[in-house]
Amino acid sequence: MKCRRKIWVYITSMCIVAGLYAGYSSVYGQEGEEINPKKLFEYHCATCHGDDGKGTKRGHELKAPNLADANWQATKKDEELLNSITNGKNKMPRWGEKLKAEEIQALARYVRKLAPKKRE
Ligand code: HEC
Repeated sequence: MKCRRKIWVYITSMCIVAGLYAGYSSVYGQEGEEINPKKLFEYHCATCHGDDGKGTKRGHELKAPNLADANWQATKKDEELLNSITNGKNKMPRWGEKLKAEEIQALARYVRKLAPKKRE
C-alpha cells in the first residue's frame, strides 16, 4: 500500500512538471519572430513606466504620466502616442532608432491596453 502511494506521488509530480513545461513552452516557445509588446515594454519601458504603466519612482521624478489612467488615455490620440514613443518627449527617450516601426506600433497598442476599461 505504502509503495503504491509513493508511485502516485511520483506520477502526480511528473504530471505537474510536464504541465508546467507545456504551459511554459506555449507561452514562450512559439514566439519566433513575432513581436511581444509585453516583453518589449517590460524590457525597455518599465524602468520608468513600471510593468503596469503607472510609473516607477524614477518615472515620477521625470514626470512620466500614469499610462494606466483611462482619463489620461482619453486625452491622447493614437498618433500622439506613436509620435512620442518614436521621437521622444521631454524626458521620455526617443525609440525611433532602437525599435522597429512595427514594435513601436505594438507598444502603442499595448499602452492602450494598460488603462482599465472605462465603465459607463
Ligand atoms: C527614462 C524613462 C523613460 C523610459 C525608459 C520610457 N519612458 Fe515613456 N515617458 C517618460 C516620461 C518622463 C514621459 C512624460 C513625457 C512628458 O509628457 O513630458 C513619458 C511619456 C510617455 C508616453 C506619453 C506620451 C504623450 O504623448 O504624452 C508614452 C505613450 C510612453 N511614455 C511610452 C513609453 C514606451 C512605450 C516606452 C518604451 C519603449 C517608454 N515610454 C520608455 C519616461 C520614460
